[in-house]
Amino acid sequence: MSEYSTPVTVEHFKYLAARTNQEDDFLGELKNEALRHGIPPIWIAPEQGSFMQLLLKIAHAREVIEVGTLAGYSAIWMARALPPDGRVRTIESSGGHADFAERWISKSNVRNRVKVFRGRGEEILPQFETDSADAAFIDADKENYTLYLRESLRIVRQGGLILADNAFGFGRLFDQKDKGASAMRAFNEIMAREKSLQSIIVPVGDGLWVGLKLS
Ligand code: DHB
Ligand code: MG
Repeated sequence: MSEYSTPVTVEHFKYLAARTNQEDDFLGELKNEALRHGIPPIWIAPEQGSFMQLLLKIAHAREVIEVGTLAGYSAIWMARALPPDGRVRTIESSGGHADFAERWISKSNVRNRVKVFRGRGEEILPQFETDSADAAFIDADKENYTLYLRESLRIVRQGGLILADNAFGFGRLFDQKDKGASAMRAFNEIMAREKSLQSIIVPVGDGLWVGLKLS
């Protein structure tokens, strides 16, 4: 590479992560409680929450959809970037995770801005109206990402954002034997070739796809 570029090391990464908005005590407690409930600790990183808030604010987003609520951590981060009448519609297929998320959302300062939809993405997404969202965040079962992308491209308006988590396949992107990682490699090729999006993988968290819906 002849262009000047600084490869980001762990030291750089810790440096930048310490210099953006941090999670508050409420979100820290939510994660501790989620661990006690046996919910897997696969929520987004705080610096990713901060970055996603920036994107949503720059896009003047009001309506967001999310596939994969888990504990509600990312939904709360995103909802806090929206205006008072904004809304995150978040989809969760695990009843236990949905119960946990709803309990914490109801205790949060954005309780009126997050609605949990119980069911699988492939069942719920088709019920959402075309052009009814300004942004989508895909963060669920990796084998179905392409289906979630197709539906999100219908639901998000032109000029809106498509975000997708885990572009780096849980740190195992190049592991040929890992099923989740191979699903992510296949999805990454689809994103790279998707003509209706201008997109790039941003190396926050486990790799975050940021796509702008051009048409
Ligand atoms: C896994 C899923 C995620 O969404 C994530 O951020 C990390 C790991 C997983 O299924 O292992
Ligand atoms: Mg994820």
